Amino acid sequence: MLFLKQRTQPLIGIDISSTSVKLVEISSQASNYRVETYAVEPLPVNAVNEKNINDVDGVGKAIKRVVKKSGTRNKKCVLAVPSSAVISKTIRLPANLKESDIEEQLQIEADQYIPYKLEEVNLDFEVLGPSANNPETVDVLLVASRSENVEMRVGAAELAGLTPAVMEVESYATERAARVCIEQLPDEVTTDVVAVLDVGATMTSITVLENGALAYTREQPFGGKLLTEDIMRRYGLSYEEAGIAKKEGHLPENYASEVLEPFKENLAQQVHRFLQFYYAASDRDRVDHILLAGGCASIEGVDKVISSRLGASVSVANPFAKMSVSNRVNAQRLNNDAPALMIACGLSLRSFD
Ligand SMILES: Nc1ncnc2c1ncn2[C@@H]1O[C@H](COP(=O)(O)OP(=O)(O)OP(=O)(O)O)[C@@H](O)[C@H]1O
Ligand SMILES: [Mg+2]
Repeated sequence: MLFLKQRTQPLIGIDISSTSVKLVEISSQASNYRVETYAVEPLPVNAVNEKNINDVDGVGKAIKRVVKKSGTRNKKCVLAVPSSAVISKTIRLPANLKESDIEEQLQIEADQYIPYKLEEVNLDFEVLGPSANNPETVDVLLVASRSENVEMRVGAAELAGLTPAVMEVESYATERAARVCIEQLPDEVTTDVVAVLDVGATMTSITVLENGALAYTREQPFGGKLLTEDIMRRYGLSYEEAGIAKKEGHLPENYASEVLEPFKENLAQQVHRFLQFYYAASDRDRVDHILLAGGCASIEGVDKVISSRLGASVSVANPFAKMSVSNRVNAQRLNNDAPALMIACGLSLRSFD
């Protein structure tokens, strides 16, 4: 069977956001990705608050519904903790240590690097390779998150009958999906430094890739909920009505000029502010390209506003653009929802690492 590369069993990616649960399942055949299923289910109000799970049971039920809706029979999933709940550090250890020795060494030394009590922390590490200019040591990436962040997510998935196979970090998933998007950009777009701006319902994250590798990440509260709330106030609609009206555009004539345009301007300013955080933390003062993700990337023309205000090259993220799509999936809807599915997509792509 030399010529048949073994087919890797896909894992379903489950993104638990502040307002919904998103599922994506991607398979790989002969170096081609195929979207097998995807689905999105809203979460009960306040089940998750700024990425902290308050209601494991409510999240578990939403996962169960999203699995059912998607039709997948796969039970193995990849979940992620938010980047803000994770501490990662690259440390140096003697090159001659075995994996088991490294583990032991980290247990002893980790309290130097991690500000929580070790018994409350999930610890993981990856040997990155020999340290620069020292053949006697290796660089080891240490990743730690409080156990409750991990356990609540695992608990919710298990309530829904799933088996979590991998726990990831959201920024790693974004990085993986962003690489797929970057490969698709036209040759004339420079991509040495690419900032992924994921503008969701309540949170916005910036993830910067320098030469394809994760270099910076930060999250702040900002998102489309502000627009929804503005619509509710102005037009006397409920939260649900406003959410639907915003997507379908059935709103009074002054909506575009008085509500939507100001929101787009605000969003462009927020993007500008996020980039300033990155410049302050790095030795750079520009990015080559902005990949716009999250549900707010689907707002008509928002990429143009950012591009013109910031003088930047901007595109709307769609990691599925070159993938084939199972006939169970509505391809048109998938394309519309694609920017909001970056994390779920990146999580499922973890199957093929
Ligand atoms: N076509 C559209 N036009 C306008 N707004 C949209 C559109 N599609 C989605 N949105 C908005 O995008 C937001 C949801 O985005 P997304 O799914 O990325 O958020 P989330 O991941 O659930 O939340 P968060 O990342 O904040 O935890 C909502 O405010 C929604 O109204
Ligand atoms: Mg999100």
